[in-house]
Amino acid sequence: MAKEKVLVTSALPYANGNIHLGHLSGAYLPADIYVRYKRLNGDDILYISGSDEHGVPITISADKEKVTPKEIIDRYHNANKAAFEKFGMSFDVYSRTSLPIHHTTAQEFFKKYYDEGLLVEKKSMQFYDEKAKMFLPDRYVEGTCPRCGNEEARSDECERCGSLYDPSELKNPKSKISGETPVLKETSHWYFPLGKFQDRLVKYVEEMNKKFGWKDNVLQYCKGWFNDGLKDRAITRDLDWGIKVPLDEVQNKVLYVWFEAVLGYISATKELSKQRGEPELWKKYWQSNDTKYVAFIGKDNIVFHTIIFPAILMAWNDFSADKYTLPQNVPANEFLNFEGKKFSKSRGWGIDVDEFLELFPADTLRYTLAANLPESKDTDFYWKEFQGRTNGELADILGNLVNRTFTFAHKHFNGEVPRCGKLEKIDEEMLATINEYPKKISGLIERYKIKDAVFEMMNLARAGNKYFNDSEPWVSVKKNKEHCATTVNICLNAIYTLAEVFEPVIPFSSVKIFKMLNTRPTEWSECGSVELEAGHKLNEAEILFNKIEDKVIEELVNKIGSGSAEVPEKAEEITIDEFKKVKMKVAKIIAAENVKKSDKLLKLQIDLGNEKRQVIAGIAKSYKPEELIGKKVLVVANLKPAKLFGLESQGMILAVDSGEEGKVKIIEIDESINPGTLAK
Ligand code: 2FM
Ligand code: ZN
Repeated sequence: MAKEKVLVTSALPYANGNIHLGHLSGAYLPADIYVRYKRLNGDDILYISGSDEHGVPITISADKEKVTPKEIIDRYHNANKAAFEKFGMSFDVYSRTSLPIHHTTAQEFFKKYYDEGLLVEKKSMQFYDEKAKMFLPDRYVEGTCPRCGNEEARSDECERCGSLYDPSELKNPKSKISGETPVLKETSHWYFPLGKFQDRLVKYVEEMNKKFGWKDNVLQYCKGWFNDGLKDRAITRDLDWGIKVPLDEVQNKVLYVWFEAVLGYISATKELSKQRGEPELWKKYWQSNDTKYVAFIGKDNIVFHTIIFPAILMAWNDFSADKYTLPQNVPANEFLNFEGKKFSKSRGWGIDVDEFLELFPADTLRYTLAANLPESKDTDFYWKEFQGRTNGELADILGNLVNRTFTFAHKHFNGEVPRCGKLEKIDEEMLATINEYPKKISGLIERYKIKDAVFEMMNLARAGNKYFNDSEPWVSVKKNKEHCATTVNICLNAIYTLAEVFEPVIPFSSVKIFKMLNTRPTEWSECGSVELEAGHKLNEAEILFNKIEDKVIEELVNKIGSGSAEVPEKAEEITIDEFKKVKMKVAKIIAAENVKKSDKLLKLQIDLGNEKRQVIAGIAKSYKPEELIGKKVLVVANLKPAKLFGLESQGMILAVDSGEEGKVKIIEIDESINPGTLAK
């Protein structure tokens, strides 16, 4: 296959907390597997990431710990960089957005737009803390929702009832910084006219998908944004932690973190170029039309990478002779949960990478996560599965094949690769299998089907074990040594191929196997067809994977996972009569539309058998109106009517938390049940 010039980025994680397994499965491990494979394939590749060190997430952490933002970012940048290294991430550079090179890069983009007249300045009223002398970002203001009375509502949005309102309507607002009542004060910001780019962005996504096959989850997300219509977005904030707005007359304003963070990929590449003593190297990747740029992210970052970042680059390209390369693919993953629930630092649910690697080798974690990547839906990490994959797959399949083959080669063939004798059918078939797998695996990785690729890697090891068993070398060594030599030769060649195809997933073990084989990887295209020569001297074997005992896992399950970290909620008990007061009925959704000015609410018309009603449901983030029509759901039918956004709601649709922030799943009822049926 022709060699490609490939630029790969993984989302820049905020340097305000430790990397946990969920991060790894989302944007890091799949990218590292892809990159390692591409390197073995001989492609020209750069792999870029680093810390995102600005924005409210950082200042909130600093406030909580009563330290400076600088202390927070230094601590977590270093900790995360070290944890990634221990996990075997092969970044070419792990940079940080606090570096001067990033500040100047981001300012250069802002200045170019400003000078070209692209940005629109708009005034708005925002909360200001007179004691702390600062404008308060949304997350810094709390008050009582003007609609439902929730006392923990944000400045312009209530998470409980889904209302959006003007900050002036929020009752009893309090600054989270000083506890004082903030005042509303006029401020102005610069807006990026995202709407102007809508048509070009739609075309861009369509074209990339047509040529390179984007993932469904990513396309659906983009469509949702396009359907809603792209709006102007403020790219400045009233904060002092961040990148200063590069205009002399402007004080105390910084660039919005999402505007500058995505540019961090470019500045990190500049940083790498400097480190390599080739300051212009970054242009060869970013400003060249034969670069394939792939951006690995988690699903919460999709809009920033498929819409906002491309628009930022398009805008630059409109004004400049140096044209930037847009992402060719954005293979975003869904989320990994931990033992059935979302990772949550505050509730002590989950495990950090660093902590994990104190207990177990990186490759066992890499393999387990890779075999269960959330490529098309959320998946879970379970300790039991981790044990099962380590013991039953890595040790019993791959480790066993390596171990038994090396034992034979050392005991009966003087620690050398024995000469292959006359081939029987079973041998020919195994050679064909060895030859075919690397192609099968690379085909899957090229299409970002990493999980399937990992499954095939282990299948090759399975085939090796089956071949070993069926060939019975322990019999042939006594009766037909020439055929025993053939078996061991072919098994060693299978291991040679396995060492290479598994390298992207378990690089530390791969190094060990190559050392045992006393050789190095070939280029991927030759893998499976080049053979170790007869007489080639082997090194001593070493144990690749230790099995994990039940009691170790049980202790971990009790300590970190299932059951301990979260105290189950004790619900108030009610009598059966009290429960019977709630009338839950089956309803069919017959019409659905968005509620104007709300991104959370949908207006539904439902059929309850003998009557029709209107229900306003806070499910717009989870469903598109058209997806709901015809569905049968459960409705609380005797709830007092309430008004939301001026619309009457005559009931409540039952839904459960989907495990994904802000999203729910409605409780669906079987098609065969009639509307109006009472639930008991
Ligand atoms: O979600 C996050 O952790 C963000 N810091 C990701 C930023 S990716 C890119 F913009 F840099
Ligand atoms: Zn509310």
